Amino acid sequence: MGYQNLNVEVADHVALIRLDRPDAMNALSADLLEELVRALGKAQADDKVRCIVLTGSDKAFAAGADIAEMAETSFAEAFMGDLFGQQADAILRIRKPIVAAVAGYALGGGCELAMMCDIVIAADTAKFGQPEINLGIVAGMGGTQRLTRAVGKAKAMDMHLTGRFMSAEEAERSGLVSRVVPAKKVVDEALAAAAKIAEKSMVTATAVKEAVNASQEMPLAQGLLFERRLFHALFATEDQAEGMSAFVDKREAQFRDR
Ligand code: COA
Repeated sequence: MGYQNLNVEVADHVALIRLDRPDAMNALSADLLEELVRALGKAQADDKVRCIVLTGSDKAFAAGADIAEMAETSFAEAFMGDLFGQQADAILRIRKPIVAAVAGYALGGGCELAMMCDIVIAADTAKFGQPEINLGIVAGMGGTQRLTRAVGKAKAMDMHLTGRFMSAEEAERSGLVSRVVPAKKVVDEALAAAAKIAEKSMVTATAVKEAVNASQEMPLAQGLLFERRLFHALFATEDQAEGMSAFVDKREAQFRDR
């Protein structure tokens, strides 16, 4: 089955997923989210794919959940249908690294989608925001939790309560994104980062993703123990032996994901 709201290309071990709903600034309709979850699941299952890049258009990464679609939703429908719950959980179950390339608006669910990715690279045009308060709701895909962990309580509270947008420069300064690049280069920069990741051992990259994500969920002592056990466990892999002997032999490591 094809996609109506996405473009997906796989090249050089990287799946590039582009949100493509230009009439609505890539608003995250139920259909778009179903396609995104399906595309991410396919990328996860595809042995040729070692890293995923998620992007939108020049104007919008995604301007949030689809407001028109949500406008008539009742509490009972939202609650009993677990609005956005299953899609968010499915995105978080993806174990391959995901690099977001964000240009233009990343608002509401768009900002939350970027924060569910593992690395966020922003164009200098990017604008992040959690303006749900203007609609009489709060964020529903992790915005109050992940933004607070990313930028601290002061800025998160400011953004959620006032609904103001954060520039790319402020987002980098605040720790929401890892790099800011000229808009023309943002997808290439993300693809280059993904290509670098694709060269690594997938076993190790998956362990890195799990360990860093654990830091967002666990108390420090538990997180440190989780990391140490992963560190110990990786000495059981061929890729550890290869990585270290390649360093000693002054040659490029040939990882085999085992
Ligand atoms: N849901 C549904 N449609 C959306 C949308 C959303 N979240 N965001 C934008 N659109 C649609 C607009 O309704 C408009 O459609 P139309 O051309 O049929 O009227 C189209 O996208 C272009 O948006 P427009 O508002 O005309 O562009 P703009 O450049 O003036 O403003 C934004 C861009 C992103 C600042 C503005 O659209 C906006 O504030 N969007 C909502 C952001 C938001 O509240 N997100 C959180 C949702 S929970």
